[in-house]
Order: sequence, then C-alpha cells, then structure tokens
Amino acid sequence: MNAAGRVVVVGSANVDLVVDVPRHPGGGETVLGGDLRRSPGGKGANQAAGAARAGGADTSFLGAVGRDDSAALLLASLRRSGVRTDLVWRLDVPTGTALITVSPDGENAIVVAPGANSHLAVERPQAERIAAADVVVAQLEVPVDVVLAAARERRPGVPLVLNAAPSRALPDALWDAVDVLVVNEHEAADLAGDAAAAADGDPEALAAVLLRRVPAAVVTLGGAGSLVARRGRPPVRVPAHRVEVVDTTGAGDVFCGVLAAALARGEDLVTAARFAAAAGALAVTRRGAQDAVPAASEVVALAAAGPG
Ligand code: RIB
Repeated sequence: MNAAGRVVVVGSANVDLVVDVPRHPGGGETVLGGDLRRSPGGKGANQAAGAARAGGADTSFLGAVGRDDSAALLLASLRRSGVRTDLVWRLDVPTGTALITVSPDGENAIVVAPGANSHLAVERPQAERIAAADVVVAQLEVPVDVVLAAARERRPGVPLVLNAAPSRALPDALWDAVDVLVVNEHEAADLAGDAAAAADGDPEALAAVLLRRVPAAVVTLGGAGSLVARRGRPPVRVPAHRVEVVDTTGAGDVFCGVLAAALARGEDLVTAARFAAAAGALAVTRRGAQDAVPAASEVVALAAAGPG
C-alpha cells in the first residue's frame, strides 16, 4: 500500500439496538425475536471505523453525540478503530439511536432516532480539519446543510464521496459538490427519478442517468458486486466475494470507508472499489456494524486473493 491518506468523515453516530428476528414484522404485527444487542453504529461512524481500521487511513470523525452511556460506547469504539474523535460535539441531547431487526438471511430493517446527529455543525475547528483532508466523506443521516458546509471547506480538487443513504432528494448545490456518489440500487433508482423507469432496473442504465449529475458513481449490487461508472469511460463491474452472510448491517458503510481510504492514498476508483468489496465481504460474515469492521491486513489479503 502507498502512504496513508487523510480521510475526514462528516456524519452520524448511533448506538444500535439489534434483535435477530425470524422475519421482519409487517404493519401492526408483533414478532418475537432473540436477545437484544447494543453495539456501536451510525453510518458516519461506521464509515470512519472502516476508513481507519479496514482502510488504514488517518481518519477524523466529525459528528455529534450526547453525554450519555451511548456516547461513551461510540467514542470508545471509534478510538479502538484508530479514528480521531477530538472534534466530535458533546451535546445535552440524547445520542442517536437505531432500532434494527436482522432476519436469518442477514438482511436488516432500520429505524433511526437521530438525536444529537440533528444538531451537528461545522465550525472553525471542523472546517480546518476538513481543509487538511485528502478525501471528505458524508452521508444523509445528518442535515443536508451540514454536508454542504463540509463540502465548501474542502481544498480545491479534494473529492467529496457522498453515500446518499438514507435515500432522499438532493438539492442542486449538493449534486454539484459530489465527486463520487455511492448508492445501492434502490437509492440509485430514487435519485434517477422519472428516468429510473426507462432504466428498467439495469444498473448500467441507472448509472448513466446519475452521470448526468455527478462525474462518478459506484452502484453497489449486494451479492452481484458493484458497478463503477465514470463520465467518458466504459462502466466496470467489480465482482463480489463469495462469503457466508451473517449480518449485512453496516457493510455498505465499511465499503464506503475503505473506498475513501484507498482514494486518499492515491488509488484509482476501480482499484478502490476492489478493496472496498473485500472489506464489505468480510464485514457481512460478522455481527454488528463497527464490531464487524475487518483489519486492513485481512482486506489486503482478500483483495489480493480475488473474488474466487
Ligand atoms: O448502515 C447501518 C447503520 O445505519 C447502522 O449502524 C445504524 O446506526 C444506521 O445508521
């Protein structure tokens, strides 16, 4: 690997309250599940842990938590992963909480109570850290205005990697700021809007629609790998690694974090997506979000071995 780059992740931190269920409940239904697990999560914090631990990047997390036990759990987890947490806001509101059910096939359903995440702000110290980054990463569990503020503080040429999750419409200013959009097929279809119908579920066609607004997009396709699409170049399919899926929670976040870490150390987008695919594959074999982040050595070994 080349020298570690500097990644700054602007985003959410949640404590995850997780229950294994035989199937996800429908409206008005009660389902009996297994024992409750409480573990560190939040898309932003998971991405930061992924960039630092699995991607080997010098990583700062810019987020907001409360002054409760959940905040202590999250900060300890991030520090264990090697993430800089010195600029995380501590606020007199509850830390974000995610209620998660996981079905036997490893698929999850999530509801988030944002708590402190809704109060995140970019002030001078955070702006200075962003200005020193090689790659800035954001998602949509914090206010869009905060993502825009972070985007404005980048040095010229520093890419913004936006994981457009959870799905929501993007303002024009954010479309214009994004360098690499990372989305799953559902998010891609939502962002493609009316043009999604003509794409008829074809990832290449969906990506082509997204490239009207952003220079590059990575569409994750679950067990079918991912698609790297760049303006003016043919799309590239990155195959998935065949692994036994235990829990998919946070695997997409680990994918984003490792993608950003690889870009920060100077890899091209396709190579970065190959490292990200290896990290995501390892993450789904373990329970939890941040608890499932693999070590960089494991990621390098699996990426070198190939999808098999
Ligand atoms: O992407 C998984 C994450 O989404 C969970 O850790 C949960 O906190 C929600 O933010």
